[in-house]
Amino acid sequence: MVREWDPRTASSAEIASLLATLNAVLAADLPQDPPWRETSLREYLAEVMPGERRISWIAQAEPTAAGDTGEVLGQVHVLLLGDIGVLEVLVHPSVRRTGLGRDLVLRAARRVYQEGFQSIGVEVVGDTPAVGFYESLGFTREYVETRSVLDLTAVDWAELAEMATGISAGYQVEFFPGGPPDDLLEAYARAKAEVRDVDDGELRPSSYDPERLRDSLDTLHRRGMKPYIVLARHEQSGEVAGLTEVVVPAQHPTRADQYDTIVAQDHRGYGIDRAIKARMLLELRSAEPELIEVQTWNAQANEAMLKVNAELGYRPDRDWCEYSVDVAELVHRLDPPR
Ligand SMILES: CC(C)(COP(=O)(O)OP(=O)(O)OC[C@H]1O[C@@H](n2cnc3c(N)ncnc32)[C@H](O)[C@@H]1OP(=O)(O)O)[C@@H](O)C(=O)NCCC(=O)NCCS
Repeated sequence: MVREWDPRTASSAEIASLLATLNAVLAADLPQDPPWRETSLREYLAEVMPGERRISWIAQAEPTAAGDTGEVLGQVHVLLLGDIGVLEVLVHPSVRRTGLGRDLVLRAARRVYQEGFQSIGVEVVGDTPAVGFYESLGFTREYVETRSVLDLTAVDWAELAEMATGISAGYQVEFFPGGPPDDLLEAYARAKAEVRDVDDGELRPSSYDPERLRDSLDTLHRRGMKPYIVLARHEQSGEVAGLTEVVVPAQHPTRADQYDTIVAQDHRGYGIDRAIKARMLLELRSAEPELIEVQTWNAQANEAMLKVNAELGYRPDRDWCEYSVDVAELVHRLDPPR
């Protein structure tokens, strides 16, 4: 049975069952990824940025005993933002190739269509069944990034400490657990806005104005994801010359996510990228003792950043693709008018 589902009011048994299915999916498709925990999972699924909506459905098995909750065998949610619906679908490995995935996509697509949205986007992990699945539904590949993973147990910390200080004179590097302080939000957002057009093609969502940035930090906190920031400030002008963001999610605190790393145009060539990333890892080592890996996503064309990541010890892991489809075409393909 498939039904619309609200994580805010879902029973704890349903949340636990969804977690079990998510971990079965990870074990089947991404066995090197750490399993997720239940900590803040409900909030992770329920909380969104102001102005955005996430709508979810679950596929549930028949309860096996009275008072029992049927096992959650699949889930789909779509995040409605701007003019696009961002889709995520999960089907338990034990019930794959029975048409459930297609059925879940159809539920979400119909709603996205009714709400008047134009297109649906989805992140698809290379070398997993999702590639064949979305291609069979007519989704096309927009671009590909590489996910790389850094194993902190293999890091040479002395060398890293040296990298952290290898920055030209005239810059001050600062660490902010929890996010940038209020008085820096504007300069921070300015640095992000400046490179928006220059470094096109990265997948991570970004916030370019102070209000949006504040909302995005609040949303992260509400979803149980702790942001850490390292900034390089140009001493003379007070400008934010570079920044790097890492998020440690309560759902998988042994593996952190690298978000944006930005060096403003005028401040390139001074060793900022390497120094701020190295400083971040040194800080995380004491701030997050459970942490053993950091993952990052880069456009394959972003050679400068890939080079620095390789020096830090990141190893390429998977292709991470963005696919999209026209909603009307998808609905008509899956649900032809009779
Ligand atoms: C992708 C996924 C949703 C597919 O679910 P499913 O219920 O098995 O899909 P369906 O049975 O509806 O398949 C529909 C069509 O997709 C295509 N398809 C599905 N799996 C495929 C595969 N492994 N290889 C090639 N084509 C595939 C087929 O054309 C299939 O039709 P057919 O079975 O009649 O040939 C499921 O494998 C899944 O949950 N993957 C994990 C997704 C994810 O986001 N993971 C994140 C962490 S990796």
